[in-house]
Amino acid sequence: MYKEIKKICCIGAGYVGGPTMAVMAANNPDIKFTVVDINKQKINLWNSKDLDELPIYEPGLSELIKKNRGKNLFFSSDIESSIENADMIFISVNTPTKTKGFGAGFASDLKYVESSAKEVAKYSKGHTIVVEKSTLPVKTALTIKSILTAYQEKGEHKGKSFDILSNPEFLAEGTAIINLQNPDRVLIGGDNKNSIETLKGIYMNWVDECKILTTDLWSSELSKLISNAFLAQRISSINSISALCEATEANISNVSKAVGMDKRIGSEFLNAGPGFGGSCFKKDISNLIYICKHYGLEDVARYWENVILLNKWQQRRISKIIVDKLFGNLSDKRIAIFGFAFKSDTNDTRESPAINICRDLLDEGCFLSIYDPKVSSSQIKRELSLHENVRNSDQNNLLWEKNSNLYEAAKNSDALVVLTDWVEFKSADLKKIFNIMNYPSWIFDTRDIINPEEASSIGFNIWKLGNGFYS
Ligand SMILES: NC(=O)c1ccc[n+]([C@@H]2O[C@H](COP(=O)([O-])OP(=O)(O)OC[C@H]3O[C@@H](n4cnc5c(N)ncnc54)[C@H](O)[C@@H]3O)[C@@H](O)[C@H]2O)c1
Repeated sequence: MYKEIKKICCIGAGYVGGPTMAVMAANNPDIKFTVVDINKQKINLWNSKDLDELPIYEPGLSELIKKNRGKNLFFSSDIESSIENADMIFISVNTPTKTKGFGAGFASDLKYVESSAKEVAKYSKGHTIVVEKSTLPVKTALTIKSILTAYQEKGEHKGKSFDILSNPEFLAEGTAIINLQNPDRVLIGGDNKNSIETLKGIYMNWVDECKILTTDLWSSELSKLISNAFLAQRISSINSISALCEATEANISNVSKAVGMDKRIGSEFLNAGPGFGGSCFKKDISNLIYICKHYGLEDVARYWENVILLNKWQQRRISKIIVDKLFGNLSDKRIAIFGFAFKSDTNDTRESPAINICRDLLDEGCFLSIYDPKVSSSQIKRELSLHENVRNSDQNNLLWEKNSNLYEAAKNSDALVVLTDWVEFKSADLKKIFNIMNYPSWIFDTRDIINPEEASSIGFNIWKLGNGFYS
C-alpha cells in the first residue's frame, strides 16, 4: 500500500533523532517533521530561543534549527497526537546495553524500542511506515512487527496497518551535519518495495540515488553493528601498535601514515589515542558478541571481545604511565585535564576515555582541574560520580573542578593531560602555561596535539602517546 508522506514523526530527540530530522526537514520543505521525546526538559531545550541551549552541540546544527524550527520542523512532548498524525514514524530511541538479567553487559536493552512500538501501535491511524533508526540487534524488526500485529488484531485498533523498514544511521558525532548532508551511503532494508521506494524518495531530495542501498531487513540491521565493530577494531589495532612504537622508539604518526597510504587499508580512523568512546562502539560490539554467542560462534565472539579489552587496556596503560612518571605518587598533586568529551566538536561524554582515566587519577589521590569547551560541570559530575563503590558523590565532588579556560585549568598544576582533540588546544600558548604550572611540569599528550620539540625546549617534560618520552 503506497501513501503520500506529508507528516513524519520521530520518536527520540537525542543525538540521532534531533540532527537527522533537522537535515531531513531542511531537504524536504513540503513534509512536516515532529520530533517527540518522553524527556520534557529535552524538548524544552530543543525549543529554546537561545540556540546555545540546544541539548546537543554539533557544528552547523543550531543554524539548521534556526532556519527550519517552527516552519516544517517541530519538537514536541505530545507523543500521542504526533504519532496519530504521522504517515511515517522513525524510532530513534536509545538502545543501551542491559545492566542486569540475561545477557547483562552484552545484550541490548530494548525496553525503549518496545515502549515506542507500543506507542505507535496504540496511537497511529491507517497505514503507517515504521522506520528503525536506532541501532538494533539483527531480527529486532520481528519484535516490533509482533507488537504492532498484536495491537492490530485487537478490536479497537482494527483498520491499522504497518510496514517496517530498517534505516540505520551512520553519522559520527562531531561531524553529524556534514555526514547527514553528504552521507557515504544510505541503507534501507525492508520487504515491502513500495515502502522502501517511499523512504528512498525522501532521501533522493538531497542524496544521489547511487548512494542509496536497499537490502533485506536482516542485512540492514546487521550492517550497522558490523560497521561500528570494524571502526572500533581499527582504533584498537592502531592503539595496540602505539604501545609497540613507544617500546621500539618508532613514531606512531609515521607508522599510521605509511600504513594508511596503502589504498587497500586507507588512512581514515588510524589515529592512535586514548581509546574509542561514545555511546555506540562498545555497546554495539557487546551486542555483536552476544549475538555470536547466541548462535554458538564462540571463536568469533572472542575475536570481537578483544577489541573491547584492548580499548580498556589502553586507558589503564595511560593512567599507569602518568602515575609512574609523577614518581608513583599523585597525592597533593594537581592535574589539569584538557578535554572531557569523547572526541572534539561534540558535548557527548558517554563512554569517554576521560572518565576512566580521570577516575584512575582520582583514585591515586590527586585534584583535577578540568577544562572542556562544550561539556558542562553537571555532565562531568554525573560521569565521575558513577564510581560510588570507591567514593560517594559528595566526596568525589571535592576532588575536581571545572575551569572556564585552559590557562585557568593549568594554573598551579603539576601535569596536564590532553584527552580530547579540540582544535583550540593546538594553539595553546605553551610558554604561558609553563609559567603558571608547578615545576617539574609534565605534559601527557594522548591526542597528538602538542608539538613535543617546542614543549621540551620550553622546559616541559612531555610524554606523547605512540612516541614516548621527550625531555
Ligand atoms: N549517537 C550516535 O552517534 C549514534 C549514531 C548512529 C546510531 N546511533 C543509534 O541511534 C539510537 C539513538 O541514539 P542517541 O545517541 O540519539 O540516543 P539518545 O540517548 O541521545 O536519545 C534517545 C532519546 O530517546 C528518548 N526516548 C526513549 N524512549 C522513548 C519513548 N518511548 N518515547 C519517546 N522518547 C523516548 C530518550 O528520552 C532520549 O532523549 C541508538 O540506538 C544508537 O545506538 C547513535
